Amino acid sequence: MNPVKVGLLGLGTVGGGTLKVLTRNADEIARRAGRGIRISHAAAKAFDPELLRGVDDIEVTEDAFDVVNNPEVEIVIELIGGYSPARELVLKAIENGKHVVTANKALIALHGNEIFAAAQEKGVTVAFEAAVAGGIPIIKAVREGLSANRIEWIAGIINGTGNFILTEMRDKGRDFADVLKEAQALGYAEVDPTFDVEGIDAAHKLTILASIAFGIPLQFDKTYTEGITKIEPQDVEYAAQFGYRIKHLGITRRTDRGIELRVHPTMIPHRRLIANVDGVMNAVLIKGDAVGPTLYYGAGAGSEPTASAVVADVVDVVRALTSDPENRVPHLAFQPGELVDLPILPIDEVETAFYLRMQVEDKPGVVARIAGILADSGISIEAIQQKEPAEGETTVPLVMLTQKVLGQQLDQAIAAIEQLESVSGQVMLIRVERLDG
Ligand code: HSE
Repeated sequence: MNPVKVGLLGLGTVGGGTLKVLTRNADEIARRAGRGIRISHAAAKAFDPELLRGVDDIEVTEDAFDVVNNPEVEIVIELIGGYSPARELVLKAIENGKHVVTANKALIALHGNEIFAAAQEKGVTVAFEAAVAGGIPIIKAVREGLSANRIEWIAGIINGTGNFILTEMRDKGRDFADVLKEAQALGYAEVDPTFDVEGIDAAHKLTILASIAFGIPLQFDKTYTEGITKIEPQDVEYAAQFGYRIKHLGITRRTDRGIELRVHPTMIPHRRLIANVDGVMNAVLIKGDAVGPTLYYGAGAGSEPTASAVVADVVDVVRALTSDPENRVPHLAFQPGELVDLPILPIDEVETAFYLRMQVEDKPGVVARIAGILADSGISIEAIQQKEPAEGETTVPLVMLTQKVLGQQLDQAIAAIEQLESVSGQVMLIRVERLDG
């Protein structure tokens, strides 16, 4: 049988990796897929010509629409990224009856509902394994491996750049900007790195995970997003003293009142496996009612790890080319007519424990007054720590851990605490999760 012809949009970090992996492992991949897979067409405005060394018969154009409109191409791999023209290209490929593989989390998180509806109507597949957690086959695990379970919650380190930055800062005391530059040079960071450090990239991925875990439509606009830029070295140190580590987590949880969907720095017990996931590595912890907690670990970014997920999707699509579209795995894990519009909880209706750090005057009654405000708001203190003031200083950091409290309840107490004359500046808040099921 002739090889399947594939059109590749984008010859950057992941596009280059995809070409390399498909070329290097061509025989093994063909044995798995049942047919050879050949990149016959590619589109890129600029690329390293070295990439094409040893690759036979590939037609490269600058206009990606040439590829999606080419009748020879059966599968389109979209690795351009961003919203536009990626959305138009993917919709055009679908309209032309082509299957699509994409690593584009922003595209799926924002336009996935529209894209999957179009694909469903046309009877083609849009595969997106590489969109979440790079090389970890997490979409397959949730959509297929855990399909017996009622999934209760997911907590993941799903941005490699952010994890790399937090790890280097903690272990080597390196400067934030310096580590970010290294992540960019290594091809981990987004084109706009604020997507990494402000949690937008993680929110794209969490939106997708929540959808396939709970069978809800993709709702990026309802995801709470908080970045890591306010974390100070002293927070990292206090966390360690309390037996915790700070990780930038995406968390989604099913509750009686709705679905929690949130990305924020989180203090987690240092003895949890996921607390020890460092560098650019990603990890996703999933609690299913039947299986219990399961943990998935691997490289979350980078050329060949991401290509590994892209190529696995291509193999899946090739295997399913002759199958009846009705019998394929549904895009969002649940049958399209079975998605349920559960409410997404606003962050102030989410209940978690908190770490609080504030700068207070070192004089009698200050701690009592702060504890009084928390008590009046029904907030219980779990642990408290105050150091001696440094030589010549009259204020000291006061650090506390609270028990679980509703976000809005804590916000009111914090507003009252920040009004106190003996408290200077703003109170630093970090959510605390035990992740113990
Ligand atoms: N910028 C992303 C990250 C790339 O650092 O995880 C993979 O999606």
